[in-house]
Amino acid sequence: MAEAIWSYPTRILFGNGATTDLGKEARALGMTRALVVSDPGVTRAGLTAPVERALASASVESVRFDQLSTNPSEAEARAAAKAYTAAGADGVVAVGGGAALDVAKIVRVLVTESLPLDELDDALGGDAKMKGQFPPMIAVPTTAGTGSEVGRSGVVTVQKTGRKTVIFHPKLIPNVAVLDPRMTESLPAAITAATGFDALTHCIEAYLSKGDHPMADAIALKGIQLCGKYLERAVKSPHDLDARGAMLKAAMMGAVAFQKGLGVCHSLAHPLGAEHNLHHGLANAVCLPAVLDFNRSAVQPRIAEIARALGVRGGDEDTLAFECSGAVRALRHKIGLPEGLRSEGISEHDIPKLARLAYEDACHRANPRAVSEQDLDQLYRVSL
Ligand SMILES: NC(=O)c1ccc[n+]([C@@H]2O[C@H](COP(=O)([O-])OP(=O)(O)OC[C@H]3O[C@@H](n4cnc5c(N)ncnc54)[C@H](O)[C@@H]3O)[C@@H](O)[C@H]2O)c1
Ligand SMILES: [Fe+2]
Repeated sequence: MAEAIWSYPTRILFGNGATTDLGKEARALGMTRALVVSDPGVTRAGLTAPVERALASASVESVRFDQLSTNPSEAEARAAAKAYTAAGADGVVAVGGGAALDVAKIVRVLVTESLPLDELDDALGGDAKMKGQFPPMIAVPTTAGTGSEVGRSGVVTVQKTGRKTVIFHPKLIPNVAVLDPRMTESLPAAITAATGFDALTHCIEAYLSKGDHPMADAIALKGIQLCGKYLERAVKSPHDLDARGAMLKAAMMGAVAFQKGLGVCHSLAHPLGAEHNLHHGLANAVCLPAVLDFNRSAVQPRIAEIARALGVRGGDEDTLAFECSGAVRALRHKIGLPEGLRSEGISEHDIPKLARLAYEDACHRANPRAVSEQDLDQLYRVSL
């Protein structure tokens, strides 16, 4: 029996202006009428228009759906699926951040599967209940964070449980990802910073997660280096297309790497999104230093390696591992992200419920050090 499964199947187009090639790609996938899934901010930033022009230039018709929020709900995904059916669409083109990309994936599930979404929850083995005959999808990320463009899951808050739920299937991976740095130029500094920290957290948690995956490890380390070198530049010089491109690469690499697994930080971040509507990357940024300190006793050599990849120089392994969380805090400070949860309206009073929900979240199962609900409670307190 195989000990591990390693897959890297996405076709990825990279480059300034790569969006113009999207029509040909849609045609090659057999699309004649696409549902363009986006959100109001992305449409306002003028980013759906070039996608629609590229589709039209290849004689692919398009209908737009852009009514969704940063922590998308099942109702929003169902409205998008209704638009897909009403339009007689035969493919999905997502343009936006993780929210739009995830909703596009959920649309593919809703138009092909009949079971309710809570039963398709990945934590309950939902993938085995799906046939996976999804319509084709092209993903154009306009944030550099989630890497959902190369990921096999979509996250949505399910109505019945009120929980942010991962819907996973190997065939949910987009057929084509278009990484066009110009599509991220208009991203405001605060969102560039928060989404960039999501990418960094993916790389770090993947590198530290349990399991044997040498390719994921190498990709994760390179992604950490890119974040260390380019995230501050992308935040402070929004039109620096080299920095924007490097962060798109880091985000894509983070999601390729986290097929190995994530960790405690994502379990802490998910309830902060579902319960308090915190941006996902920001929630990770606030919790990550405490998680690194917590994990040090289990994976010290790897944490020392992360410190090196972030540019910490000198010192033995002990010192480097000790300094890693400080390096992450320093980067977070330089790019203007909050230092704690309190400024985001979270108080001690909220912690017991958050810890309970974080414990129910599946991500911490891959964490290199086992956690209890009490540990999660303590990690939130240290991150206040
Ligand atoms: N599928 C996965 O593997 C995965 C991984 C991590 C996170 N997620 C999910 O992704 C979502 C977060 O995604 P996100 O961090 O990309 O944020 P997002 O998609 O919510 O976008 C954040 C905001 O930025 C705006 N925006 C996006 N691109 C822009 C641009 N180029 N110019 C101007 N404004 C722009 C949007 O309108 C929105 O208001 C969460 O729901 C999270 O749960 C999914
Ligand atoms: Fe994430």
